[in-house]
Amino acid sequence: TFTQRVFSGIKPSGDLHLGNYLGAIRRFVPLQDTHETLYCVVDMHAITVWQDPVDLKRWTYEIAAAYIAAGLDPRKSIIFNQSQVVEHAELGWIFNCVARVGWMSRMTQFKDKAGGEGGENSEQVSLGLYAYPSLMAADILLYKATAVPVGDDQKQHLELTRDIAKKFNHDYKKQIKALGGKGDFFPVPETLATGPAMRVKSLKDGSKKMSKSDASDMSTIYMMDDADLIAKKIKRATTDADALPSEAAGLAGRAEAENLVGIYASLSNRSVDDVLGEFGGQGWGVFKPALADLSVAVLAPIADEMKRLVSDRGEMDNILRDGAARARTIAEPVMAGVRDIVGF
Ligand code: ADP
Ligand code: NA
Repeated sequence: TFTQRVFSGIKPSGDLHLGNYLGAIRRFVPLQDTHETLYCVVDMHAITVWQDPVDLKRWTYEIAAAYIAAGLDPRKSIIFNQSQVVEHAELGWIFNCVARVGWMSRMTQFKDKAGGEGGENSEQVSLGLYAYPSLMAADILLYKATAVPVGDDQKQHLELTRDIAKKFNHDYKKQIKALGGKGDFFPVPETLATGPAMRVKSLKDGSKKMSKSDASDMSTIYMMDDADLIAKKIKRATTDADALPSEAAGLAGRAEAENLVGIYASLSNRSVDDVLGEFGGQGWGVFKPALADLSVAVLAPIADEMKRLVSDRGEMDNILRDGAARARTIAEPVMAGVRDIVGF
């Protein structure tokens, strides 16, 4: 048994890309040997913006398959789909009543999507999008998870999870004690640092992150792209005309170059300086084909295994059903405790 419990998830809201792989999925794998790990497909988060139901289902299987293809072992990690453990919704509602409207209004990700404080586009976005961080708090705290491996883009939301845990513990202090609790009911979870986090940028704009929601397909390497398409996208990636520098400092002010070299370093588990030691002084005509070969070498076996897994939905259903059952053995007693504390 491990002392720390990890929870993380990915939304089934688009095809998985290299950023999801390097920034999330690949980092999940080693944790399963040192922590108790729950990896979720967060479909309830996905529908905070419109999702075609057929796509939602396909992406749900794809993410579960990607977890496994990348090395997560369903015997070592609890791999499941959020909507199959209804306690997420129940605790999310209670947290909606613990969290304050002002806390949600300050979330930059909501402001980006809804436009401004309160949101000029608030007629266009769902109430669920606004309450998203409260459901995320429920995802984590339902399992009393203490460690959350999240990227920079989720730091503010995790801070809000901490605030919700603290406010719940404070608001219900008397009842927690009356029911025999020694102190806080929920742990206050921490960000889990898992080494330097690679933020993969768009191949067309080094100031934007690679994202599922990017409209331009050529800017994003998808995990299921075939070898030719990966090579074509890398060949057409925006760069300056200069040769590669011989050390990392030489990449300053060259966002696109920094991104491509960073991807190479991350894919090969080498430092940027080490990669530049090899390619410094070379042009893109040398570096890009090498990056394409490396990308294909890493991604193709994973994509093949993903395809094999998703072709058997019956087997995927078995894996997800088993994961949900194991998740529920943790979630149900926590939720029973919460109901007692709240007075339900
Ligand atoms: P997306 O932003 O593509 O919709 P999600 O919000 O579902 O992806 O994020 C899933 C995980 O992938 C998160 O842990 C997030 O930090 C990580 N992630 C998403 N995009 C990138 C990226 N470009 N670089 C690194 N990690 C990323
Ligand atoms: Na994100």
